Amino acid sequence: MAEQERTGTGESADSLTNRQGHPVTDNQNIRTVGNRGPSTLENYDFIEKITHFDRERVPERVVHARGAAAHGYFEAYGKVGDEPISKYTRAKLFQEAGKQTPVFVRFSTVVGGMDSPETARDPRGFAVKFYTEDGNWDLVGNNLKIFFIRDAMKFPDMIHSFKPDPVSNVTNPERMFDFLSRTPEATHMVTFVFSPWGIPANYRQMQGSGVNTYKWVNAEGKAVLVKYHWEPLKQGIKNLTSKEAAEIQAQNTSHATQDLYESIENGDYPEWEFCVQIMSDDYHEELDFDPLDDTKLWPTDKFPFLKVGKMVLNKNPENYHNEVEQSAFGTGVLVDGLDFSDDKMLQGRTFSYSDTQRYRVGTNYLQLPINSPKKRVATNQRGGQMSYHVDAGENPHINYEPSVIGGLKEAEQVGEVHEPHYDANLVREKIDRTNDFAQAGETYRAFEDWEKDELISNLVENLKVCRKEIQDQMIEYFTKADEEYGRRVREGLANATVNDKKNTGSADADAATKKAEQMGHEA
Ligand code: HEM
Repeated sequence: MAEQERTGTGESADSLTNRQGHPVTDNQNIRTVGNRGPSTLENYDFIEKITHFDRERVPERVVHARGAAAHGYFEAYGKVGDEPISKYTRAKLFQEAGKQTPVFVRFSTVVGGMDSPETARDPRGFAVKFYTEDGNWDLVGNNLKIFFIRDAMKFPDMIHSFKPDPVSNVTNPERMFDFLSRTPEATHMVTFVFSPWGIPANYRQMQGSGVNTYKWVNAEGKAVLVKYHWEPLKQGIKNLTSKEAAEIQAQNTSHATQDLYESIENGDYPEWEFCVQIMSDDYHEELDFDPLDDTKLWPTDKFPFLKVGKMVLNKNPENYHNEVEQSAFGTGVLVDGLDFSDDKMLQGRTFSYSDTQRYRVGTNYLQLPINSPKKRVATNQRGGQMSYHVDAGENPHINYEPSVIGGLKEAEQVGEVHEPHYDANLVREKIDRTNDFAQAGETYRAFEDWEKDELISNLVENLKVCRKEIQDQMIEYFTKADEEYGRRVREGLANATVNDKKNTGSADADAATKKAEQMGHEA
């Protein structure tokens, strides 16, 4: 009989045990002196049960805490558009048509906590872990193709302004727009987020994007810049109006998790096509934006979407905590043939993910089955909290390298190394081509009429509680993007002011002061 199948005294195959393997004969009563207490301290079963319960949660993610996930596979087309993919990247997972790589994908909202409603106006996370034969590749993206800021230094401030007030724990759009009104580069992202594109109908019917610029490297060590995109296939794209979202939220705060779970249970597997945009790896002075600026779209007439493969999600997680909550994605997790660009956001992100995961999940977070690669792992790392597995080679005594006695050795470098050259001063400076408003205007003009109407009404709803200097600054940004866009927000706010007695004339200043006091701001 196999060791794990042995049963102890009085035990049958479905008996409850504790984690020491002791059969639990009474799961209803703690041990007490007489049946009215007091209880005793040697209640091992009770103490094991309650102390484990007390530790059931790991800290939630500081952003993207609310999420849902699924397993599936990525299937390569073996080419990029009509060209052989090896021209641009030697990454093995893409090379052969029909080659499948297992994936785990976690979707999320950004700002709310673990149990917050999934109808929030918020970008959606779209994080994909590819378990490739060369180890893991994480593509940690969002549904929208751009971002609010272009420098990682600003991220903690941005998130603080989006989260509730640290004193009252009340969410207040004035905090967000206070930050955004001093962040002109966010105008393009604000235009998307306050339009219906800010509330995807669910996780299946939305796009995905790597947002930041990465590199592909071929066998000769030559690199190109790439942007990654996921386009929904049969399920299409669907967004919600604020009213539709409010109606769903009144009934169900988990509608997107439920939709994903039930679709997969019912065999209706969501699929996305994987596309890239490619640019040569240089400064591109002909463009009016910087290719490393994540607040910009790469125009598709110059840089078309090229198809690379497709992804199918066909299996739900077996346990939410073990797989979804403890999963850890990071932009530093690349395989041979893929590389970072100098995108400053990407570089900041790459430090942040594994740092937070060592704290959130623990030092040995990469030993967990959901995070560990589905291939040989052999390191000289030992110990740390919750280490249960030693991934040594043949000789576990030699946990160092180099050694003549034995132990692990460096692998052979295959293919030329990509070695970019730098010649510049070390500085703290903005990029040259900021061009914060032109693409925001193009995006506004590309919206359908109902999308423009929603955008204006959502902005007015949120801006009307903000003080005037914030409103004026935002209107100036919208006007710089597109004259009609700015005018419609200004007119909307003027009407809202007339309709809202609290926000008229001198009462305006009083209301703002009062509101500021309530929120703990200096008036
Ligand atoms: C999650 C940091 C920008 C997409 C996170 C987490 C941190 C973080 C600390 C929590 C990770 C965890 O606990 O496992 C940052 C920083 C950024 C940044 C410092 C900017 C400098 C972005 C951008 C995107 C993005 C631009 C979109 C491309 C995500 C996603 C997750 C996430 C999808 C959730 C991953 C999951 O499902 O576990 N980010 N982030 N982040 N971030 Fe970022």
